[in-house]
Amino acid sequence: MEKQEQLYEGKAKRIYRTSTPDQYWVEYKDDATAFNGEKRAQITGKGELNNRITAIFFTMLKERGIDNHFIRLLSATEQIVRKVDIIPLEVVVRNIAAGSLAKRLGMEEGTVLPQPVVEFYYKDDALGDPLVNASHIKVMGIASESDLATLEKMGLAVNEVLRPYLRERNITLVDFKLEFGKTADGEILLADEISPDTCRFWDSETNEKLDKDRFRRDLGNVEEAYQEMLKRLGGDVHV
Ligand code: C5P
Repeated sequence: MEKQEQLYEGKAKRIYRTSTPDQYWVEYKDDATAFNGEKRAQITGKGELNNRITAIFFTMLKERGIDNHFIRLLSATEQIVRKVDIIPLEVVVRNIAAGSLAKRLGMEEGTVLPQPVVEFYYKDDALGDPLVNASHIKVMGIASESDLATLEKMGLAVNEVLRPYLRERNITLVDFKLEFGKTADGEILLADEISPDTCRFWDSETNEKLDKDRFRRDLGNVEEAYQEMLKRLGGDVHV
């Protein structure tokens, strides 16, 4: 397979066309950004860690019946995925109050929610990815009602698989963000990445943060935390 022209460069990844029409080539970068790009840094090794961690999660989710765009790892920092058109919504699922939810609703960080909360954010950098509800999504024509119902159902299904899987590895899944896309024949597939950049992972015993909050909040040891996540998932940096 041949890597062709770059289609897109995001904050953490570059996407390339390939010689196979329905497959994309994804390259994970070491760039870290937070607060809609206001805070930036390079974290050596982050691209490799997120590439490998995403591959582990997506392979495991596929084995458990949650289809997604992942096809195979290509190198330490690259993977091949199925081509999808990304639906411009971030689907956030929360088990424990943290981050923007804790702030918006005045909840203490760490409060266990009686049931998972699903939120949608409209992916638009200029608007700062605003929180949107089903009515907003409908009037803006972002997704149909039935597609939205599918996204919510799939978000909750991912949570039901990830939570116990991580609990066995001594990790509490606080919250996470998913993105979905549509294949050429209209099927909705889980896409993008699942990594410490897009999830909150806390050590179950100490509540130590093993995710991007270490970067957002200047807690230090960002790469070490991501490495610890890969280790607990059974991955190896030197494959
Ligand atoms: O900041 P907030 O509390 O809304 O984030 C909820 C979850 O979504 C966190 O796990 C965070 O890492 C993830 N997220 C993301 N990309 C964004 C916003 C949030 O991956 N643009």
